[in-house]
Amino acid sequence: MNKIIAANWKMNKSSKEAEDFLRRIEISDKNTVIIFPSFTALPAVSSIIGRHHSGAQNVFYEEKGAYTGEISPVMVKEFADYALVGHSERRALWETDEIIGKKVRAAQNAGLKVLLCVGEAGGQDRNRTLETQLRKGLMGANEKNIVIAYEPVWAIGTGLTAKAAEIAEAVSFIKALHKCSVIYGGSVTASNAKEMLSVCDGLLVGGASLDAEGFRKIIEL
Ligand code: 13P
Repeated sequence: MNKIIAANWKMNKSSKEAEDFLRRIEISDKNTVIIFPSFTALPAVSSIIGRHHSGAQNVFYEEKGAYTGEISPVMVKEFADYALVGHSERRALWETDEIIGKKVRAAQNAGLKVLLCVGEAGGQDRNRTLETQLRKGLMGANEKNIVIAYEPVWAIGTGLTAKAAEIAEAVSFIKALHKCSVIYGGSVTASNAKEMLSVCDGLLVGGASLDAEGFRKIIEL
């Protein structure tokens, strides 16, 4: 179908578990599959499936220096072609739209493609939230190598999904502002993936990407 199917493993899987998982799926060129493992499993993942199928779940916005515990986009580029930026679980910790904008620019400067996550929390106005997150997150960025992931916060890890019509609305709102591919994330499973895929350019899968059998069904759609 030639869609983007991205797996966000969050804080799960050792490198050994990652290797076991990858042995059980087959990545064809039917869809663009990108795996976002933890930093510690990234070298193993990258050596099995290649940098062009691998991504980091986060990057820092400086290239190098005295930033204990941070990982720079240049370091990530050794192993991966993609960086996930602005996930709501990181926004909830401490990342502002301004920090996210800095990370997007730094990632692009290092030659990474960026998967920028945006989405409203329950009770927030969707379009207003998306407009602000996109404007600040993409300030000074080159839209060419950006994929936007629309992930309504209320749909993440809850089993609640946005309806296909709501996703379609959000996708066209985003596309009217930016010339980027737009994918959907939030409680995607092997059973609902096809419906979601019919209204966007791909999927960002969390929980359901941890199980090789389930994920295989999604990437083979
Ligand atoms: P779930 O698929 O577990 O809801 O997570 C979605 C997500 O956060 C992907 O980045």
